[in-house]
Amino acid sequence: MSDPKAKEAAAVERGNWGSRLGFVMAAAGSAVGLGNVWKFPYITGENGGGLFVIIYLCCIALVGIPIMAAEIMIGRAAKKQPVAAFATLSGRKTGWTAVGWMGVLAGFVILSFYMVVAGWAMDYTLKSIVNFSEPIHDAAEKKATVYRATTPVAAMRARLAKRRAAHRSRALVDDIKREAPRSVWRGYARYRAAVGVAGGAGRAALLGEKKLAAQVVRAEALQKRVDAAREAAAVEAVTYYRKRSDDQVRAEAETVERRRIIAKKIGGAFGKLVTDGWTVTFWSALFMLLTILVVAGGISSGIERTCRFLMPTLIALMGFMVVYGAFQSGFGEALTFVFKPDPHRLKASGVLEALGHAFFTLSLGMGAMITYGSYQEGKDNIIKQSLWIAGVDTVVALLACLMIFPIIFSYGQEPGAGPGLVFKSMPLAFAEIGSGGMLLAILFFGLLLVAALTSAISMLEVVASYFIDVRGWSRPRAAWILGIVIFAFGLPSVFAFDPDFVLKSWEPTYGKSFFDTMDYLASNWMLPLGGLFVSIYAGWVLPKKIRDAELEGVAPITVRGWLLLVRWVAPILVIAVLLQKVGVLDIDEILYALFN
Ligand code: TRP
Repeated sequence: MSDPKAKEAAAVERGNWGSRLGFVMAAAGSAVGLGNVWKFPYITGENGGGLFVIIYLCCIALVGIPIMAAEIMIGRAAKKQPVAAFATLSGRKTGWTAVGWMGVLAGFVILSFYMVVAGWAMDYTLKSIVNFSEPIHDAAEKKATVYRATTPVAAMRARLAKRRAAHRSRALVDDIKREAPRSVWRGYARYRAAVGVAGGAGRAALLGEKKLAAQVVRAEALQKRVDAAREAAAVEAVTYYRKRSDDQVRAEAETVERRRIIAKKIGGAFGKLVTDGWTVTFWSALFMLLTILVVAGGISSGIERTCRFLMPTLIALMGFMVVYGAFQSGFGEALTFVFKPDPHRLKASGVLEALGHAFFTLSLGMGAMITYGSYQEGKDNIIKQSLWIAGVDTVVALLACLMIFPIIFSYGQEPGAGPGLVFKSMPLAFAEIGSGGMLLAILFFGLLLVAALTSAISMLEVVASYFIDVRGWSRPRAAWILGIVIFAFGLPSVFAFDPDFVLKSWEPTYGKSFFDTMDYLASNWMLPLGGLFVSIYAGWVLPKKIRDAELEGVAPITVRGWLLLVRWVAPILVIAVLLQKVGVLDIDEILYALFN
């Protein structure tokens, strides 16, 4: 297509963003989604907080932002979606086309489980409209009042003291355990297990090993201190509650009991939903329908306008919930959890997960930004655009944590509750707020849904655009056919938590539900690999002329920094993380050395 007129006509036909801000808005709309509000808090909870967050932020800065710029650059220069983009830029078909294909596949896989979570959010929007937590609240209040009236104060004291002791000793014990690297504790655990089976003879045999013996000595000394700390915490708690009046104890015990009942019931409601495959099917289908309609309708009007209004509203609402959280008893603990690094709480797999999530949350590694970039006119500063998109995305992710964890800790819930975290925690707060809570709940889940929609659109767009650009399908046809195929492929994820699920041996065989397997494959493998190839392509393969043209107006020092990151730092980090995943590097010992 060397004829400039034909080129122009094609560009018009493909459609473009309506304004200069339009691209950034839509790209931010793609980036901000369930990944930020649903996934990031729950994987932060599962990976022990602080250190995971730091590693994630490093991944965003050193890997995510440079690759974001690379994707936008490739798309904008080629004016093609990913499968066609590499061939266009190289002037012929090369092996790089496979990277585009992997992206299309990843979009397929991600959207197939993404729609499930979006379906949950839809269900919760309706739940909020019918104020589902009100009866739970009323019942819990009654029960807690009965508890207060019928339980002896001494029993209340004992219960509260036990709770306080457990709570405080957990922090102390963590501090002590941190003094030795995890390998020591692993050796000690093995030793104890063996001695438990083999008895004294086994002990003598094991202690003959120099390395293990040293680990055992070290661990036993620390274990003594752990026991002492537990003891001290128990004593402190008893004294603490002895000093409080009966009325104070009664009031606190009632609150604790009420919250326990509410949390149990709200958690149960989530369990009921996800195990009900047909209900989730209904919601996922509805969500997919919306996604198809927007994609079929073209890129500028639908996507752009939605993003421009609703995104700031979502951020404001989340800000409000953070302020609410700041007044809750669990806020201090939440801050510590989210920001204080603790190498003992991070599993080695957490590093890959942080990297994978950096790709996921920025919509990188599958060509979504290549596709969106291809609809961009003009030569705005790519680096600036990337910084903005990543900045907004990161702010929303951190707000989500600061909104959710104070509630979790105030209610004495577990941060590692898994994929249900946001659905189990937020309704607790909305119900507690009382009269305005219902409106907040509707807004929150409604906006979460919008955020999910603007992200899902970008996934379907990547897949559909291949059939539009390369195969010459019409836009509506591509959107409908692929949307329906992806929906069908997503059905096993929809039913993954239903006890009647047909693929019964899936979870025992692969150690993960079908739903989690899809997430794991896409986020932890396909996206980092895709990102790796994109960075290599942009840094080393893309002709300098094209690169320079796209970086027009960017300060030379910025260009040099970006090149350094995209050529060396990002690929090396991604490769290192993948190597540790396949067992070549031991991240545990590296982290311990770094943080002690
Ligand atoms: N970034 C989105 C989120 O955080 C999800 C998403 C949209 C995505 N498009 C993508 C993830 C492309 C990977 C690739 O919810």
